[in-house]
Amino acid sequence: MCGIIGVVGGGAAAPVLLGGLRRLEYRGYDSAGLALSGEGRLLVRRAVGKVAALTERIAQDDPEGPFGRWTTGIAHTRWATHGAPTEANAHPHLDRTGRIAVVHNGIIENYRQLRSRLEAAGHRFASETDTEVLARLIGDRHQGDLRAAVVAALREVEGAYGVAVLCADEPGALVVARKGSPLCVGIAEGRVLVASDPAALVAHTRQVIHLDDGDVALLRADSVDVSGLDLSPRHRSPDELPPDVAAAERDGHEHFMHKEMHEQPESVRNALRGRIDLRNGDAVLAGLGRGEDGEDATVRRAILLGCGTSLHACMVGEFAFEELAQLPAEAEQAAEFRYRNPLVGPDDLVVAVSQSGETADTLAAVKEARSRGARVRGLVNVVGSAIARQTGRGVYLHVGPEVSVASTKAFTGQVAVLLLMALRLGRSRRLSPERGRAMAAEIARLPELVERVLERESSVIRAAERMAHSEHAFFLGRGPMHPVALEGALKLKEISYVHAEGYHAAELKHGPIALLTEGTPVVVIANRSPVRDKTLSNAEECRARGAGLVAVVTQGQEGPPGAWADLVIPDCDPLVATVPAAVALQMLAYHVARIRGCPIDQPRNLAKSVTVE
Ligand code: G6P
Repeated sequence: MCGIIGVVGGGAAAPVLLGGLRRLEYRGYDSAGLALSGEGRLLVRRAVGKVAALTERIAQDDPEGPFGRWTTGIAHTRWATHGAPTEANAHPHLDRTGRIAVVHNGIIENYRQLRSRLEAAGHRFASETDTEVLARLIGDRHQGDLRAAVVAALREVEGAYGVAVLCADEPGALVVARKGSPLCVGIAEGRVLVASDPAALVAHTRQVIHLDDGDVALLRADSVDVSGLDLSPRHRSPDELPPDVAAAERDGHEHFMHKEMHEQPESVRNALRGRIDLRNGDAVLAGLGRGEDGEDATVRRAILLGCGTSLHACMVGEFAFEELAQLPAEAEQAAEFRYRNPLVGPDDLVVAVSQSGETADTLAAVKEARSRGARVRGLVNVVGSAIARQTGRGVYLHVGPEVSVASTKAFTGQVAVLLLMALRLGRSRRLSPERGRAMAAEIARLPELVERVLERESSVIRAAERMAHSEHAFFLGRGPMHPVALEGALKLKEISYVHAEGYHAAELKHGPIALLTEGTPVVVIANRSPVRDKTLSNAEECRARGAGLVAVVTQGQEGPPGAWADLVIPDCDPLVATVPAAVALQMLAYHVARIRGCPIDQPRNLAKSVTVE
């Protein structure tokens, strides 16, 4: 979603800002812009579309001028919320005098009231955004001290923000502030930077200060001065960024998604590392606690919360929790949770599942669950992210940075860790040591199972070639493979723009089967499981109506007769099989999108992390 980068000091700002914006591109955006201050004035450039369009605009406008000299600036990639993705709505936004520029992530909830008030006082707005309201408010409060003006304006604002502000009158300074939208300050040689995502800083420094909600910071080339909104000083010391943040390069793969799919044997191995107790048939998940207030025999119910791909992982988790731990479990769309007066309390275990740890709906659900006294745990990839901090306890995924907007290795890591959680819960409840050991051994095979699926990429490509020219597709599965079918359909629509529907295999005949015509692709997950025969019958119903079948089958078992292609996964426990099956469907979506020539890593309209409700 929207991205911020800012810099003060240490040479020309524009190349640093544009480089930072490129590092933020993966988050998804639809316009970009930057502002520089120097020689007592501001320069602002904005463009619809990619950062490349902004770079071109700057190169044309000013090949050798201030863009190559001025050392203080802010820049932004915008994912439209208030107002269409136009140049007028792109950030930075200016105050009434045009001497203060603001970039902003998040949403100002009371912007309508503030806007009406400002309009009544004579302001004429240039955009439809909530951010311009903030810029104008800061301008109206400005009496020579930028930080004081920012603080005064933010006191009037309700909602979430990460902001960076500069002023023509203070060319060596930036003021930044955060509440609910991440922001970190990077400390480099002779230069201080700020970004909404550390990925934008790694080219310059690994020393970062993660700002907390309510922090305001005055940045100069050689100093970082953090305070609260009441201007009382706050001490913040820098942390060293982990090396994996710096490692986000494509390494010869055509797309990040391809690289990330192929990293899965390793990323799943990292997610499982040190967490499987083969001898006792148990899992070791220190972050969950054990015994005293942990997820033990006293838990009455588990609620798994997430959005998008993470919700699909929760749905697989629901099956695992019920089967292994005999614990009633519900996967819930996080956005729904807090608006339906959820019946949760201290006996409930709530697991918030999120790759980014920033998703606004999941974060809000976590707060709701906490306020009702539930035992809330996080299953998060990004260390130190908002959900990780809010939950306080939980398990990190450790799958490394995921750059492609379409989530792959986060999903497989989430399912792997949810299986471990289910095993751990099971062993403190009724799961026998023998069954525990068998399950632990199966989970331990996951990296190798994924490896075997990735080796069969060429057969996936053949299936993708058959599917690539259809505008519709169906994905069918039963039991724990139902959410995998939903995930397969989601992957395909996200990156190839093919209209894809995931269904429970038994549900198709209750309506959607009307849509099947000659050659409609139907991807059916018919692995070894107690319901395989039923699924094969459902596949046959589709074939009888002309559908082209692509089947996910277990090695050594036959696929449905007359299928276009079989995608073979190794034989394993049916719960564990969700991971290799998901990998096969990721590859299928990837190759369909590649054949169709789609911009795989940054699909239109999508954002990597959605920080608005
Ligand atoms: C966005 C992304 C999805 C992701 C979802 C939840 O919509 O495009 O890929 O699954 O957010 O994100 P989270 O970071 O909470 O897992």
